[in-house]
Amino acid sequence: MDHFSYNQGRLFCEGMSADALAEQYGTPLYVYSRKTLEDKYRAIKKAFESVQTIIAFSVKSCSIIGVLNVLRELGAGFDIVSGGELARTMRVGADPRKTVFAGVGKTDEDIRDALAQDILMFNVESEAELDNIQNIAADMGMVAPVALRINPDVDANTHAKTTTGKKENKFGIDFATASRIVRNIAVQPNVRLLGLDVHLGSPIYTTTPYRDALEKVADFILEHRSPRAQFEYLNAGGGYGLLYRDQAVPSFQEYAEAIIPYAKKAGCKLIVEPGRSIVGNAAVLLTRVLYIKDNGHKLFTTVDAGMNDLIRPAMYDAYHFCWPTRSATVPPAHLFTSSDAVAYFTREALETQTGTNTREIQADGLVMTDVVGPICESSDTFAKARRLPPMQRGQLLAIFSAGAYGFSMASNYNSRPRAAEVLVEGDTARVIRRRETLDDLMAGETV
Ligand code: LLP
Repeated sequence: MDHFSYNQGRLFCEGMSADALAEQYGTPLYVYSRKTLEDKYRAIKKAFESVQTIIAFSVKSCSIIGVLNVLRELGAGFDIVSGGELARTMRVGADPRKTVFAGVGKTDEDIRDALAQDILMFNVESEAELDNIQNIAADMGMVAPVALRINPDVDANTHAKTTTGKKENKFGIDFATASRIVRNIAVQPNVRLLGLDVHLGSPIYTTTPYRDALEKVADFILEHRSPRAQFEYLNAGGGYGLLYRDQAVPSFQEYAEAIIPYAKKAGCKLIVEPGRSIVGNAAVLLTRVLYIKDNGHKLFTTVDAGMNDLIRPAMYDAYHFCWPTRSATVPPAHLFTSSDAVAYFTREALETQTGTNTREIQADGLVMTDVVGPICESSDTFAKARRLPPMQRGQLLAIFSAGAYGFSMASNYNSRPRAAEVLVEGDTARVIRRRETLDDLMAGETV
């Protein structure tokens, strides 16, 4: 369940009205729903309950400690990719034995810090990194737990910028090299080979790539298992789809059904690294309309959020559903809540539609507009040629599905202080990150 709904023409996050939140905390404002985080986490946990599984939330998708804390309380582990993310998980009191550390460029300092924290394992992305971990662990008098991240050369059919499991991508180790590493593992006395890891890309809207990759990985484990390479864990990565537009998104159950048989076949415990599917629909970005401009050719609605607050449309041409927080025309729930949408946009339904935009809202009085931000780049556009109710200066617009790779990719471009973030819990809201000030903006700089 997502806990965003329209009640008498007004948008609510759980029990809080979006307008009241914007009034109190200003805009642009990220608004997170705790209940949505809880529901999504529990749904994934349930889907994987038939095997021992660590749900390692992918911190890069949403790294604010207010959200990490909710997930830690629910029992989540964490997938991290930097010393900064390690520090964040430590700050919320995460269990290091449920923390896995991936990334192609771990620094010596990252490796030392993570070893000192006794994390569950490093997901190693190259032979050279493995050698480095061996040397650092030897120096520290430790044995470093590692998994090899395999690049299975499987196409996840996702955006070119977010696909990771093809041989032309920088991620992971090919099977031939992995095989050599495993056969020679005895020369690395300070590493312990705990598992294999594979992450194919994000978001992945069918389960086939998981099956294709995991079949190869499970076979590799069965062929290479030895006393020095016991492969206790199979890490299937993240990448589950999120409904942004009118995709058919497999349920958590369907992803789990694709993945679990291979963990069983390989005799491994499972690790999964979901990010987007937990937090994506758990937040909206609220933004206020600054100006309306009709240039005789197009209607532009300029809002006070920019690509520095939410870069996905500019970077990946990503579609985010937008709608005013107050509107006589209430959008159908399947357009902005994933639970309704999953039932509505089934693969069968989409296949039988011919060229119709299933997201087009059929209502009188809508106007076609581009929703743009204030940043000096044409790519600073949240929505192109969208049919929306006519808007005025001062009105609030909600940009939906903004929880994943939203604030975590925000920047200060154009010297814009970053937005505030609030966490709604029923009918209360808490600031989990205050709005940046101009002093914050220049902190650390010298003349
Ligand atoms: N594990 C690894 C090794 C990853 O690289 C990622 C995401 C995940 C797990 C989590 O994937 P998720 O469950 O969130 O799909 N900025 C892009 C997405 C980049 C994904 C990077 N890796 C976007 O906004 O679409």
